[in-house]
Amino acid sequence: MSHETNEHDHGCGCGCHGEKTNPFTELNPVLDHYADIPGSLISILQKAQELYGFLSVELMRHIALETHTSIAKVYGVATFYTQFRFEPVGKYLIMLCQGTACHVNGSKMVEEAIMDYLDIKEGETTADGLFTLNNVACLGCCSLSPVMMINDDTYGQLTKEKVTHILAELKEKADPLQATQEVTA
Ligand code: FES
Repeated sequence: MSHETNEHDHGCGCGCHGEKTNPFTELNPVLDHYADIPGSLISILQKAQELYGFLSVELMRHIALETHTSIAKVYGVATFYTQFRFEPVGKYLIMLCQGTACHVNGSKMVEEAIMDYLDIKEGETTADGLFTLNNVACLGCCSLSPVMMINDDTYGQLTKEKVTHILAELKEKADPLQATQEVTA
Protein backbone atom coordinates (compact mmCIF):
# COMPACT_ATOMS: atom_id res chain seq x y z
CA MET A 1 0.00 0.00 0.00
CA SER A 2 1.32 3.46 -0.90
CA HIS A 3 1.18 6.01 1.89
CA GLU A 4 2.60 8.92 -0.11
CA THR A 5 -0.82 10.42 -0.64
CA ASN A 6 -4.03 9.58 1.06
CA GLU A 7 -6.68 9.33 -1.58
CA HIS A 8 -9.72 8.25 0.36
CA ASP A 9 -12.07 10.84 1.74
CA HIS A 10 -10.59 11.68 5.09
CA GLY A 11 -13.53 13.81 6.14
CA CYS A 12 -11.61 16.88 7.15
CA GLY A 13 -14.16 19.12 5.49
CA CYS A 14 -11.43 21.21 3.89
CA GLY A 15 -12.14 19.94 0.40
CA CYS A 16 -8.64 18.59 -0.08
CA HIS A 17 -9.82 14.95 -0.24
CA GLY A 18 -6.67 13.96 1.56
CA GLU A 19 -4.46 14.90 -1.34
CA LYS A 20 -1.83 16.52 0.84
CA THR A 21 1.58 14.89 0.98
CA ASN A 22 1.83 12.48 3.86
CA PRO A 23 3.97 14.19 6.55
CA PHE A 24 4.42 10.92 8.45
CA THR A 25 6.26 8.80 5.86
CA GLU A 26 8.66 7.38 8.48
CA LEU A 27 5.66 5.58 9.95
CA ASN A 28 4.87 3.74 6.71
CA PRO A 29 6.96 0.62 7.47
CA VAL A 30 5.28 0.37 10.88
CA LEU A 31 1.79 0.68 9.39
CA ASP A 32 2.67 -1.90 6.75
CA HIS A 33 4.11 -4.26 9.35
CA TYR A 34 0.98 -4.15 11.52
CA ALA A 35 -1.54 -3.91 8.67
CA ASP A 36 -2.78 -7.49 9.08
CA ILE A 37 -2.22 -7.89 12.80
CA PRO A 38 -5.40 -7.30 14.78
CA GLY A 39 -5.14 -5.43 18.09
CA SER A 40 -1.91 -3.69 17.21
CA LEU A 41 -3.01 -0.11 17.79
CA ILE A 42 -0.96 0.28 20.97
CA SER A 43 2.17 -1.01 19.22
CA ILE A 44 1.62 1.46 16.38
CA LEU A 45 1.16 4.31 18.85
CA GLN A 46 4.34 3.29 20.68
CA LYS A 47 6.36 3.25 17.47
CA ALA A 48 4.83 6.55 16.39
CA GLN A 49 5.85 8.14 19.68
CA GLU A 50 9.37 6.74 19.32
CA LEU A 51 9.61 8.30 15.87
CA TYR A 52 8.05 11.69 16.53
CA GLY A 53 8.57 12.18 20.27
CA PHE A 54 4.89 12.69 21.04
CA LEU A 55 1.43 12.02 19.59
CA SER A 56 0.07 15.12 17.93
CA VAL A 57 -3.59 15.28 16.92
CA GLU A 58 -2.46 15.17 13.26
CA LEU A 59 -0.45 12.04 13.91
CA MET A 60 -3.30 10.27 15.73
CA ARG A 61 -5.63 11.27 12.91
CA HIS A 62 -3.23 9.85 10.36
CA ILE A 63 -3.02 6.57 12.29
CA ALA A 64 -6.82 6.43 12.51
CA LEU A 65 -7.13 6.85 8.75
CA GLU A 66 -4.46 4.33 7.90
CA THR A 67 -5.77 1.70 10.29
CA HIS A 68 -9.44 2.33 9.43
CA THR A 69 -10.12 3.13 13.07
CA SER A 70 -12.12 6.07 14.37
CA ILE A 71 -10.12 9.02 15.66
CA ALA A 72 -12.16 8.75 18.88
CA LYS A 73 -10.89 5.21 19.43
CA VAL A 74 -7.26 6.13 18.73
CA TYR A 75 -7.50 9.13 21.03
CA GLY A 76 -9.29 7.07 23.69
CA VAL A 77 -6.63 4.35 23.67
CA ALA A 78 -3.76 6.85 23.67
CA THR A 79 -5.12 8.88 26.58
CA PHE A 80 -5.85 5.74 28.61
CA TYR A 81 -2.16 4.86 28.89
CA THR A 82 0.23 7.11 30.78
CA GLN A 83 3.14 6.10 28.53
CA PHE A 84 1.83 8.34 25.75
CA ARG A 85 2.68 12.03 25.47
CA PHE A 86 0.72 14.69 23.62
CA GLU A 87 3.14 17.59 23.83
CA PRO A 88 6.71 17.92 22.57
CA VAL A 89 9.28 17.03 25.19
CA GLY A 90 12.75 18.42 25.83
CA LYS A 91 15.98 16.96 24.54
CA TYR A 92 16.35 15.33 27.96
CA LEU A 93 13.24 13.67 29.36
CA ILE A 94 13.65 13.28 33.12
CA MET A 95 11.53 10.43 34.49
CA LEU A 96 11.66 10.75 38.24
CA CYS A 97 10.42 7.71 40.11
CA GLN A 98 7.75 8.36 42.74
CA GLY A 99 7.23 4.69 43.62
CA THR A 100 7.10 3.64 47.27
CA ALA A 101 10.81 2.88 47.77
CA CYS A 102 11.88 6.08 46.05
CA HIS A 103 9.30 8.09 47.93
CA VAL A 104 10.53 6.74 51.26
CA ASN A 105 14.11 7.52 50.29
CA GLY A 106 13.57 11.13 49.31
CA SER A 107 12.19 11.41 45.78
CA LYS A 108 10.18 14.51 46.79
CA MET A 109 13.36 16.23 47.92
CA VAL A 110 14.98 15.29 44.60
CA GLU A 111 11.96 16.61 42.72
CA GLU A 112 12.21 19.92 44.55
CA ALA A 113 15.92 20.15 43.71
CA ILE A 114 15.17 19.54 40.02
CA MET A 115 12.33 22.05 39.97
CA ASP A 116 14.49 24.66 41.70
CA TYR A 117 17.45 24.11 39.43
CA LEU A 118 15.48 24.05 36.17
CA ASP A 119 12.78 26.48 37.24
CA ILE A 120 9.95 24.24 36.00
CA LYS A 121 7.19 22.22 37.59
CA GLU A 122 6.43 18.56 37.07
CA GLY A 123 5.15 17.99 33.52
CA GLU A 124 6.80 21.13 32.17
CA THR A 125 9.67 21.73 29.74
CA THR A 126 12.39 24.33 30.24
CA ALA A 127 12.21 27.43 28.04
CA ASP A 128 15.38 26.41 26.20
CA GLY A 129 13.76 23.09 25.25
CA LEU A 130 16.40 21.05 27.02
CA PHE A 131 14.61 19.35 29.91
CA THR A 132 11.15 17.94 30.60
CA LEU A 133 10.33 16.68 34.08
CA ASN A 134 7.86 13.83 34.51
CA ASN A 135 7.05 11.82 37.61
CA VAL A 136 6.64 8.12 36.92
CA ALA A 137 5.77 4.94 38.82
CA CYS A 138 8.38 2.37 39.91
CA LEU A 139 11.20 2.07 37.40
CA GLY A 140 12.05 -1.41 38.60
CA CYS A 141 15.38 -0.68 40.29
CA CYS A 142 14.21 0.09 43.83
CA SER A 143 17.55 -0.92 45.40
CA LEU A 144 19.00 2.24 43.82
CA SER A 145 16.26 4.51 45.17
CA PRO A 146 15.70 7.35 44.78
CA VAL A 147 16.04 6.85 41.05
CA MET A 148 15.48 8.77 37.86
CA MET A 149 15.99 8.02 34.21
CA ILE A 150 17.05 10.66 31.73
CA ASN A 151 16.26 9.33 28.28
CA ASP A 152 17.85 5.85 28.39
CA ASP A 153 20.25 6.41 31.31
CA THR A 154 19.46 5.46 34.90
CA TYR A 155 20.74 7.47 37.87
CA GLY A 156 20.39 6.10 41.38
CA GLN A 157 20.95 7.04 45.03
CA LEU A 158 20.13 10.59 44.17
CA THR A 159 20.71 13.50 46.48
CA LYS A 160 20.07 17.20 45.92
CA GLU A 161 23.73 17.74 45.13
CA LYS A 162 24.01 14.73 42.86
CA VAL A 163 20.97 15.58 40.78
CA THR A 164 22.04 19.19 40.38
CA HIS A 165 25.47 18.05 39.26
CA ILE A 166 23.97 15.64 36.68
CA LEU A 167 21.71 18.34 35.26
CA ALA A 168 24.55 20.88 35.15
CA GLU A 169 26.70 18.42 33.21
CA LEU A 170 23.95 17.72 30.68
CA LYS A 171 23.29 21.42 30.30
CA GLU A 172 26.93 22.04 29.59
CA LYS A 173 27.11 19.20 27.09
CA ALA A 174 23.98 20.19 25.20
CA ASP A 175 23.66 22.52 22.32
CA PRO A 176 20.64 24.61 23.34
CA LEU A 177 20.03 25.85 19.79
CA GLN A 178 19.80 22.32 18.46
CA ALA A 179 17.60 21.30 21.38
CA THR A 180 15.10 24.01 20.57
CA GLN A 181 15.02 22.97 16.93
CA GLU A 182 14.36 19.38 17.90
CA VAL A 183 11.47 20.33 20.11
CA THR A 184 9.81 22.56 17.54
CA ALA A 185 10.49 20.25 14.56
S1 FES B 1 10.12 2.61 43.66
FE1 FES B 1 11.52 3.76 42.47
S2 FES B 1 12.50 2.25 41.30
FE2 FES B 1 11.03 1.15 42.40
